[in-house]
Amino acid sequence: MSVQTGTKRLTTRDIQALKQRGEKIAMLTAYDHVTASLLDQSGIDILLVGDSLGNVVLGYETTLPVTLADMIRHAAAVQRGSTRAIVVCDLPFGTATDPETALRSAVAVLQETGCQAVKIEGGAAAVPTVARLVGQGIAVMAHIGLTPQAVHQLGGYYRHGKTDAEARILIEAAQALQAAGAFAIVLEMVVPELATEITGLLDIPTIGIGSGPGCAGQVLVINDLIGLGIQPAPSFAKPKADVAAIVRDAVTAYIADVKSPSEEPPLV
Ligand code: KIV
Repeated sequence: MSVQTGTKRLTTRDIQALKQRGEKIAMLTAYDHVTASLLDQSGIDILLVGDSLGNVVLGYETTLPVTLADMIRHAAAVQRGSTRAIVVCDLPFGTATDPETALRSAVAVLQETGCQAVKIEGGAAAVPTVARLVGQGIAVMAHIGLTPQAVHQLGGYYRHGKTDAEARILIEAAQALQAAGAFAIVLEMVVPELATEITGLLDIPTIGIGSGPGCAGQVLVINDLIGLGIQPAPSFAKPKADVAAIVRDAVTAYIADVKSPSEEPPLV
């Protein structure tokens, strides 16, 4: 007997159809059940369980310490919290170093979380890995430009594709990743004009972050969108709420209530 939820979950084909219809794709990160439920109810197209989990939730300086077990625990919660969005889980640092390692990691993610796709950081070097996973029926989102797992090798977080040579490398990588079967590709911190050009050259959707409005879709870290963080959000994020201030105010009011109880008898 099949379980009917009443809501049809989006597929990779639905996401690609959005680009074909000229409709923009909205993607946000989520790391937990309640946030995933709220974003899903709001109509988000793609929920990304990003390894930004490391910076945003676990308090690490980079994404490098995040493990496959961390990703699986959080992706399973996001999957349980959503019924409509397609859920994509990052393969974290060191778990996609070659096609066979990546295949084992992706199989574990899909089997243990129920999510629909994995994301792999990397340009031309990731092409054989993407092809291997796609060959096994796994939906893969690619990720080029700024790839935070390579922060130490790159020497920091900065915009990519500034020179003609860099632009050529990114264009060729994007085309090769599409040919390998990626269903979409994240362009992180890519020069906006170049991101627009890549979007026009590809059939698959590009999802931009800090790469200008010319991509087929946009992604943000949820905490940057809602102002829930200790550090200021990156300049491209344009927070739409100040949840950190709401939390501080509520907790300050609670502490005041506890420390100076009114005369009213407690309810319990
Ligand atoms: O880990 C992450 O949140 C990401 C997005 C920023 C694209 O990869």
